[in-house]
Amino acid sequence: MAKEKASTEAIERAAAALCAGRLIAFPTETVYGLGADATNARAVAEVFAAKGRPRFNPLIVHVPDLAAALRLAEFSASARQLAAAFWPGALTLVLPRRPGGRIAELTTAGLDTIAVRVPAHAVAVALLRAAGRPIAAPSANRSGHVSATTAAHVEADLGNRVHSVLDGGPTPLGLESTVVDVSGPALRVLRLGGIARAALADALGRPVPVAEAEASRPASPGMLLRHYAPATPLRLAAREVKSGEALLAFGAQVPPHAGPVFNLSTSGDLLEAAANLFAGLRRLDGAGAPGIAVMPIPEEGLGEAINDRLRRAARPA
Ligand code: TXA
Ligand code: MG
Repeated sequence: MAKEKASTEAIERAAAALCAGRLIAFPTETVYGLGADATNARAVAEVFAAKGRPRFNPLIVHVPDLAAALRLAEFSASARQLAAAFWPGALTLVLPRRPGGRIAELTTAGLDTIAVRVPAHAVAVALLRAAGRPIAAPSANRSGHVSATTAAHVEADLGNRVHSVLDGGPTPLGLESTVVDVSGPALRVLRLGGIARAALADALGRPVPVAEAEASRPASPGMLLRHYAPATPLRLAAREVKSGEALLAFGAQVPPHAGPVFNLSTSGDLLEAAANLFAGLRRLDGAGAPGIAVMPIPEEGLGEAINDRLRRAARPA
């Protein structure tokens, strides 16, 4: 891992590495981000592995300008007002995802919404432009640690998990972006952050309420998160396939079956399985089978997050 001053050359090299699937930590005006190519599911799976997150929370997709954001998501009138008022800046908008885009399913954790932000930091914007593709980036800290506001913090926390850390000095705000859900008619603040609620109200001409779970438990914004749920019932830890069932397989030893199958990783690689998880679930959900049998996944490394999602997906709505 190399921490290096964010010179033009260093940014070019980092962009090339990012496009090749490596992780790059970079400064934004809020906190440092742990960046991956948002269109590369395997690179995004590496982000979760590096952070040691026990679950797949959807990630914020960073783009260099509004035009790039418009290609990824549907903007309501309110969303456009907020983008006009605060981008580039510390505001993340959760929007309906445009169908048919190249963003990996794992980036949005299978949701039909996407969180998008245009950062206001010269290094972040230069990296985005040099990469020429959207960058998925959570805060560059291990799960449960505070967000990193200096390159040294990133180095201490993520050590050799990143290809390089672009050092742009301490981040100006030191506080994460404000996350606003503008995907439906009722706007809600999902996470308080760098843009004050009063500023949002000024821009919109009306107040935006804080989502309930956030107001009562500020430390766990993930609690109120919707999660991807297939319409087809899942049967977990299946060791055989019942007649008619589809099969979400894992590993080389697959039970005999006649119906549709999707193997998360024939070699039993949990990183590959994570990268394929949401795409595989969607594929089998659309196959028309009355149920999906899911083979056991080891509860280790990324297997923990995979099993967390599968348990949620298996729960009746
Ligand atoms: O300032 C920031 O926002 C930093 C910099 C790097 O941009 N990023 C950051 O990312 O704090 P992260 O992953 O630590 O927090 C992202 C937040 C989480 O609370 C996540 O649940 C929420 O955004 N989020 C992302 N996509 C969402 C979606 N589709 N629906 C609802 N919430 C979403
Ligand atoms: Mg974070």
